[in-house]
Amino acid sequence: MILEVKNLRKTFGGVVALNNVSFSVKNQEIFVIIGPNGSGKTTLFNVITGFYKPDEGIIYYEGRNITGLPTWKIARLGLVRTFQNTKPFLNLTVKQNVLIGALATTKENALKRTQEAIELAGLKQKEHRLAKELSIQDRKKLEVSRALATGAKTLLLDEPFAGLIDEEIEEFLELIKGLKKSGKTIVLIEHVLKAVKKISERVMVMDNGNKIAEGSYDEVIVNNKVREAYLGETIITP
Ligand SMILES: Nc1ncnc2c1ncn2[C@@H]1O[C@H](COP(=O)(O)OP(=O)(O)OP(=O)(O)O)[C@@H](O)[C@H]1O
Ligand SMILES: [Mg+2]
Repeated sequence: MILEVKNLRKTFGGVVALNNVSFSVKNQEIFVIIGPNGSGKTTLFNVITGFYKPDEGIIYYEGRNITGLPTWKIARLGLVRTFQNTKPFLNLTVKQNVLIGALATTKENALKRTQEAIELAGLKQKEHRLAKELSIQDRKKLEVSRALATGAKTLLLDEPFAGLIDEEIEEFLELIKGLKKSGKTIVLIEHVLKAVKKISERVMVMDNGNKIAEGSYDEVIVNNKVREAYLGETIITP
């Protein structure tokens, strides 16, 4: 297991955002987290990557206890997240944005990592464009590219397909498969269930701060608790 999360609890005042959440991710796995709005998915990423300290619980990355470490230290160990709302520097070029990502961990080989990340994310043709000129899809690629440039081995992607049309999602799915092939481990939060069906190796379902199911997409999607949590939303049956 490359990432192991044990009994995480995180509260905000009276809100229990994470309640005793445990899961593990294998090396080079594509692990997907789904769940209704407000179920704690982004909070989970925030706690794993050190943006928030958990109230309880332990997080191991490559066997090392990283609980409560600052984000930059966790990034140096190879664990990096992207944001649900992309936040590039709008007046900088793609390449400059990615270089900043590269420099976030260490100066060593920063330019080389920048070039590799741009290529892996499929942005080579657009490296000199300003971030503000990019489409939503390319901004999402830029976000992935910035995370890759840090030298990350494990990427936590928060809803990379939100706002994309089917064709763009297909392209993004190929990009993610390419990342896996190049040795990356991917943990993905996603709402677009038909994309989850295509890409996930294992799925964990959250509801109201709790983990309510885990398994293959086909397994979790027929689970009664999952169907209840998604009541009123479109759910794709296997
Ligand atoms: N910084 C914060 N301060 C107070 N409450 C927070 C904070 N961050 C998250 N929460 C609360 O924790 C709960 C879980 O939120 P979170 O953003 O993790 O959900 P999510 O599953 O990512 O939802 P979405 O699908 O809408 O992105 C919500 O009730 C949210 O309001
Ligand atoms: Mg979220």
